[in-house]
Amino acid sequence: MKLANNKATLSFSNGSPSVDMPVYSGSIGPDVIDIRKLYAQTGMFTYDPGFLSTAACQSAITFIDGDKGELLYRGYPIEQLAVNCDYMETCHLLLYGELPDAEGKAKFSRLVSMHTMVNEQMQFFLRGFRRDAHPMAIMTGLVGALSAFYHDSTDINNPQHREIAAIRLIAKMPTLVAMAYKYTQGQPYIYPRNNLSYAGNFLHMMFATPCEDYVVSPVLERAVDRIFTLHADHEQNASTSTVRLCGSSGTNPFAAIAAGVACLWGPAHGGANEACLNMLEDIQKMGGISKVGEFMEKVKDKNSGVKLMGFGHRVYKNYDPRAKLMQETCKEVLAELGLENDPLFKLAMALEKIALEDDYFVSRKLYPNVDFYSGIVQRAIGIPVPLFTAVFALARTVGWIAQLNEMIGDPEYKIGRPRQLFTGSTARNVLPLGQR
Ligand code: SDX
Repeated sequence: MKLANNKATLSFSNGSPSVDMPVYSGSIGPDVIDIRKLYAQTGMFTYDPGFLSTAACQSAITFIDGDKGELLYRGYPIEQLAVNCDYMETCHLLLYGELPDAEGKAKFSRLVSMHTMVNEQMQFFLRGFRRDAHPMAIMTGLVGALSAFYHDSTDINNPQHREIAAIRLIAKMPTLVAMAYKYTQGQPYIYPRNNLSYAGNFLHMMFATPCEDYVVSPVLERAVDRIFTLHADHEQNASTSTVRLCGSSGTNPFAAIAAGVACLWGPAHGGANEACLNMLEDIQKMGGISKVGEFMEKVKDKNSGVKLMGFGHRVYKNYDPRAKLMQETCKEVLAELGLENDPLFKLAMALEKIALEDDYFVSRKLYPNVDFYSGIVQRAIGIPVPLFTAVFALARTVGWIAQLNEMIGDPEYKIGRPRQLFTGSTARNVLPLGQR
């Protein structure tokens, strides 16, 4: 970052001395006011619950322009990456800052393939869960359990250790998600196959059985790979900020990623894809498109607590570019599978059309986000609804670990320790029990 040709002066109406604060610029996007010395100079904190106006770090990985609906991974527009690259190239880009050439891609993909198996002990963690446990509960446990292994590489201040932890996490997440799925189905785990692509291997581990060969469909393989790319990273979202804050204590990197999995599960975040599909199925049961108007009235009634899941975003105040690409993927997959008339896809498009013409949504700049269509395409592929967020976590792992490693690699980083506006009781004395 560089000092901008500007500064911020904070003045107080109560006559307290004003304070000058430097303004810094990045390469693109909003400038920042450096308030790091504010408390020392004024004895006051800034107040920004939800971090609507706070840059918690500097980063060179992902840029979002919410007004334009623009998303760049290391400067490349998501629209170009989704069409011209695959997820392995995207992982290389996010981790190392550049797209690989053919040789580099082959080397990176091979390195990931060589780490796709998990320790055989991992199977015993699964046995502790009920068969009907939510996959994200299982994943939070399994990813956390990974921190009990790999003691050869947990010095996060060692760049080689950070890199092998990244490779292991990217490589093992598909294996763990597939194991979580197989466990809930009562089916045997399917080992990774190094001769398959990253997405193909995931499909094979999910849907193959020991009883017969499973041939990976190129259409589904490409769709799954596209879903992974669209979910790979997204600036300082809630789960990425969780990983950064957790990792800032110097904890085990696998434990920090487990914290990200836990945060992503929430319906306001990555859990929205599952919630959106359930919402579409509920409207379908109520009567489908004919009931959309009635449903929208509930959404607009603050007292109902009903939200249009898959709509709205803290940053995008325009169409989420990933939602457009996901809708295209939906159309391609449904057409390939002969499901063009999928009622839920038609319902989703009808909901979108109505919402984009309704002042409640237009005035609040609420548009479809990445979660609005991702569930429909995952359901068409055969991925069960409760597994949608686990697939999101699988895909986002590269973003989480790239951001964590970027933070740890910054010599200026410190443990994160926000302050508060205290509104509780002032100091008072404890009375003996008999006098309370
Ligand atoms: C992800 O941050 C990221 O980058 C996340 C993510 C990523 O890749 O990591 O993009 C992934 O989490 C996408 C978001 C998925 N969540 C959902 O689809 C759940 C539904 N959306 C909402 O919960 C909401 O839009 C949020 C949580 C996404 C954003 O909430 P904000 O920014 O805190 O905005 P807000 O709740 O203050 O909403 C502003 C207004 C409010 O109305 P008013 O108080 O102004 O009258 O818009 C309303 C909200 O009630 N609103 C909605 C709505 N979203 C916001 N009303 C109905 N349906 C919705 N979906």
